[in-house]
Amino acid sequence: MGSYKNKKMARKKTEKNKTEKPMKMAVITEAHEKKEKKKFIPVCTPWLPGNEKKYVNDALDTNWISSAGKYIDKFEESFSRYCGVSYGLACSNGFAALHLACMALGLKKGDEVIVPTFTMSAPVNAVILTGATPVLVDADKETFCIDARKIEGKITGKTKAIIAVHIYGHPCAMDTIMALARKYNLKVIEDAAESHGAEYKGKKCGSIGDIGCFSFYGNKILTMGEGGMAITHNKIYAEKMKKYRNYAFEHPRFLHQEFGVNYRLTNIQAAIGFAQTENVEKLVEARRHIGENYNQLLQETRGIVLPIEKEGCKNVYWMYGVVLTKEIKKAREEIVEALKENGVDTRNFFIPMHQQPVFYNGPLENAPDCTDSYFIADALGRRGFYLPSSSNLSLEDQTYVAACLKEILSKSFN
Ligand SMILES: Cc1ncc(COP(=O)(O)O)c(C=O)c1O
Repeated sequence: MGSYKNKKMARKKTEKNKTEKPMKMAVITEAHEKKEKKKFIPVCTPWLPGNEKKYVNDALDTNWISSAGKYIDKFEESFSRYCGVSYGLACSNGFAALHLACMALGLKKGDEVIVPTFTMSAPVNAVILTGATPVLVDADKETFCIDARKIEGKITGKTKAIIAVHIYGHPCAMDTIMALARKYNLKVIEDAAESHGAEYKGKKCGSIGDIGCFSFYGNKILTMGEGGMAITHNKIYAEKMKKYRNYAFEHPRFLHQEFGVNYRLTNIQAAIGFAQTENVEKLVEARRHIGENYNQLLQETRGIVLPIEKEGCKNVYWMYGVVLTKEIKKAREEIVEALKENGVDTRNFFIPMHQQPVFYNGPLENAPDCTDSYFIADALGRRGFYLPSSSNLSLEDQTYVAACLKEILSKSFN
């Protein structure tokens, strides 16, 4: 008995020793990793808090993996209803949505389209692909969107449309833009790629003009990795976009009366998109909450201008952008480098379109005129950057980001 007990104890001891050693090593490795692994707060990560996996598995299990299937219809129906419009056309990305919109409006060589110079390049490129010429307008100092007061001066007899890009989650001055559109008989495309859920006087961005375009790229408020949608109240535009999205197939199938492209979305992507729409309020409010937290944490910080929310507008703070004031004597690059050293990821603001070599150097005959002056866009492009803005960023991380920024700015006045 005794010897059995002793043996058992001895065995226990050896087993304990066996487990103890690796445990010690694990602790050492962890400590080492902690030392090695610096804090890193990415500028944006996707957030999939609902049925995304379940619906993707369903699409796979039922073998509906291509560009037909129930999730495409559900996603289109759900997102367009959320925006308050009748039609939604899912497509492969935000650029595709913009190009489909330009095609549906019949833009062509010889036409001019008003676009902001302070934007990501997609809307300008979409215009160029149709053969029409983009005409650039400077940014509004407060919202960073197209300066609606400067649009009229750029309208000519050739102007056919205005593309209003709701920048970083803040709506454009849609009343002025729509009034100009009525006055000069122009069409309006809203680029709401960055502004899911943003509102102008109670209306969802994307639902006010003739066609609204969205991106669902990985950093967007609703995402499916890659994806897009064009929404409209207009049945004719919806039918055209549906047709062009799929090579403009007609009857007989392989006889084409019109030019078409392949901008189809897969049912697998739409499965993620539909799941995201089930949580759309939660996703939009989370992003908005991130913006409001930063507003609190950074209020009255010397050296930066914070984003605003104009009266009658709902800013969804897709990315929380700050602009360095002239008091800051260090270059923006030094500031963002210092943030990076502290594990805070940032992105510089867009480089305005009139500064793009592809337009001022390139062989594009319909490239925009880059010789005008765009003071606000220049300043934004030089002095702006955005902070980590993931919808599920913790308050602790936001507080850390704000503290790092304040500390770095305090040493940057001379
Ligand atoms: C304002 C704007 N329009 C269009 C797009 C293009 O969207 P996508 O990347 O899905 O083609 C983007 C980009 O992400 C954007 O920021």
